[in-house]
Amino acid sequence: MLFRNKNNSRFKKSLSHTERPHLRPDSPFAIKEAFNSIRTKLIFTGKGEKCPVFAVTSSLASDGKSTVSVSLAISIAMAEQRVLLIDADMRKPSVHRYFGVESRHGLSEILAGLSSEIKLRSTDIDNLSILTAGQIPPNPAELLGSKQMDSLLDYARQYFDYVIIDTPPVNIVTDSTVIADKITGFLLVVQSGKNHMQDVTDAVHQIEEMNGNIVGMILNDPENKTAAHYSYRYNKYYRYNRYKYYGDSNSGETSK
Ligand SMILES: Nc1ncnc2c1ncn2[C@@H]1O[C@H](COP(=O)(O)OP(=O)(O)OP(=O)(O)O)[C@@H](O)[C@H]1O
Ligand SMILES: [Mg+2]
Repeated sequence: MLFRNKNNSRFKKSLSHTERPHLRPDSPFAIKEAFNSIRTKLIFTGKGEKCPVFAVTSSLASDGKSTVSVSLAISIAMAEQRVLLIDADMRKPSVHRYFGVESRHGLSEILAGLSSEIKLRSTDIDNLSILTAGQIPPNPAELLGSKQMDSLLDYARQYFDYVIIDTPPVNIVTDSTVIADKITGFLLVVQSGKNHMQDVTDAVHQIEEMNGNIVGMILNDPENKTAAHYSYRYNKYYRYNRYKYYGDSNSGETSK
């Protein structure tokens, strides 16, 4: 958003909570608690693995994937775990905007072999580094499925405790599902009042077809006025009446 200062020149103001409603250290208690709860579940889900890698996805555009990815990464970093947040939505990058940096010199350049140096950026949040999406490539799915992506994740596992990957919607492009065998699991964001059951069913099928592991669903409810427009839920709290319930794959929970 552009504002004018005293000299009438235009300058950028950082976005307020309502403009960019992700978790921040000074977010309201309800938001912090929602993400603390998801974080705790994830920590148990990834137990035993040196550096669990979770990809955040959803069925369609604008469901809240980037908001949840950024919030989750910040929440884990606030628990003093070293986190790398990767923007793997190379078609519509957005993670860089949350941190006020450029997208260039990021994931696409590394995966395409255009940059030998892995340029991770530190952020104003302790323990949180980001890898921006880079310039928009012609072949994002091919890049994400490549051996270079395996090498990048191997590198990240050496230096971080968790990796969170923001991805495009699964019902629209295949980019998210091609990383299924490289990661610990997917977190599926479902937007209340927007996603139809069929959208979500299709998303689950897309992930399952690639043998992906869905570790949880997060209900994103921007219209929920009682919780200041936010309501994030880990799958355990999401009532999923006519559909399979996916719990922690290691816990042996079954369909409801
Ligand atoms: N819980 C929420 N409360 C209020 N606004 C929200 C909430 N979650 C997301 N939004 C807003 O909805 C819009 C879409 O969110 P976001 O960019 O996170 O979605 P996305 O799934 O990553 O979209 P895309 O598919 O384009 O990558 C943004 O303007 C974001 O600020
Ligand atoms: Mg996004």
